[in-house]
Amino acid sequence: MDNSTIVCRCEEINKDEIITAIQLGAETFDDVKRLTRCGMGPCQSKICSNLVREIIHEQTGISLCQLKPSRMRAPLRLIRMKTLADHRTANKVASVLQDSEEGGV
Ligand code: FES
Repeated sequence: MDNSTIVCRCEEINKDEIITAIQLGAETFDDVKRLTRCGMGPCQSKICSNLVREIIHEQTGISLCQLKPSRMRAPLRLIRMKTLADHRTANKVASVLQDSEEGGV
């Protein structure tokens, strides 16, 4: 992979930009994310996170098993806005959350 290779397709971040972020002190995927927006696209880093971790490993020597995975935020997978907007679904989610708060789940 040369330095012009796009690593994060969603945000069009290339390897050179990732390396620059690492040279500025980034040591984790989330550090790179904050400096470049890499991982903030529609796939929420499902495509680019492992590539970025490999580049961090390559540049810093930090072993892959020591590199934390990216922090995931809900929703953990793509869902349609219609699903979120559906009142029946919203009511189910609200009741599950209420049950978990009451210790039911
Ligand atoms: S490829 Fe990086 S956020 Fe989708």
